[in-house]
Amino acid sequence: MDLGLKDKVAIVSGASDGIGLVTARSLAREGARVVICARREAKLFEARDAIAKETGAEVLAIQCDVRRLDDVQRLVAQTVQKIGAIHILVNNAGSVPSIKFTDVSDAQWYEYLERKLMGYLRMAREVVPHMQRAGWGRIVNVAGTAGWEPSNTAMAVGLNNAAVMNWTKSMSLQYASDGILINTVAPGSIDTPRQVGNRQRESEVTGKSVEELRKARVKDIPLGRLGRPEEVANLITFLASDCSSYMTGTCVTIDGGVVRGI
Ligand SMILES: NC(=O)c1ccc[n+]([C@@H]2O[C@H](COP(=O)([O-])OP(=O)(O)OC[C@H]3O[C@@H](n4cnc5c(N)ncnc54)[C@H](OP(=O)(O)O)[C@@H]3O)[C@@H](O)[C@H]2O)c1
Repeated sequence: MDLGLKDKVAIVSGASDGIGLVTARSLAREGARVVICARREAKLFEARDAIAKETGAEVLAIQCDVRRLDDVQRLVAQTVQKIGAIHILVNNAGSVPSIKFTDVSDAQWYEYLERKLMGYLRMAREVVPHMQRAGWGRIVNVAGTAGWEPSNTAMAVGLNNAAVMNWTKSMSLQYASDGILINTVAPGSIDTPRQVGNRQRESEVTGKSVEELRKARVKDIPLGRLGRPEEVANLITFLASDCSSYMTGTCVTIDGGVVRGI
């Protein structure tokens, strides 16, 4: 299937590791011109070189913390200056910790919204005018199943993800007539460095081994394993492509069958 991604310009946030890195590689493989960003420059440049080596594509790496407006504006300006257009945004950078409700101050709640929702809004606001100019755009927002199914500890995670899903729908309505299609992807448990880190922290708190915790998590997944970042990247690549031409404002769950709601 030709996805029609050749020479499309795609920005992927949080692309030095995990789902973002694999998505950037997948888009590059399909012929897109990919711009990747993350906070740690050395790791970002490593990712750029690895993608370029594997795909033969030219990849632009720009250090950017999506919580900072000046960084986001610089990322977008440099992309347009060096490549001339923006067609695709994959909003993926964000990490929100598990919390104990009574320990979290007002200021920390605002900071948790900064970590995901605000970064996504900020990036979208800066790229939409370029998509309007091109008359074609795709935005894929990576949320998570805690947006559908709240949990006791993942309260701040769920709040961000639910907000991303709701905002995505509004955005899709607002920009449909410009040819900009905007969707959410909601992964379940995906085997990325973040998952490993989360299990290590959980192990320290509970005294259970990392392997024991991993097995307990997998037990609840009907497909019997964690997801692979490539599986999420495939879905994002499709939604970012010309082949996805009649889906907008929707949220696609990719969780090995965990969420029971239909
Ligand atoms: N893995 C899962 O099971 C899972 C499940 C549901 C949803 N998700 C969602 O999927 C997305 C990716 O998760 P992942 O597991 O692939 O994460 P990951 O392995 O921890 O990778 C995160 C990437 O984002 C970058 N990043 C983090 N904060 C950033 C910021 N403020 N500005 C720019 N870059 C930033 C990191 O690099 P630097 O640290 O150098 O910035 C890294 O490249 C997240 O939105 C996450 O909530 C993941």
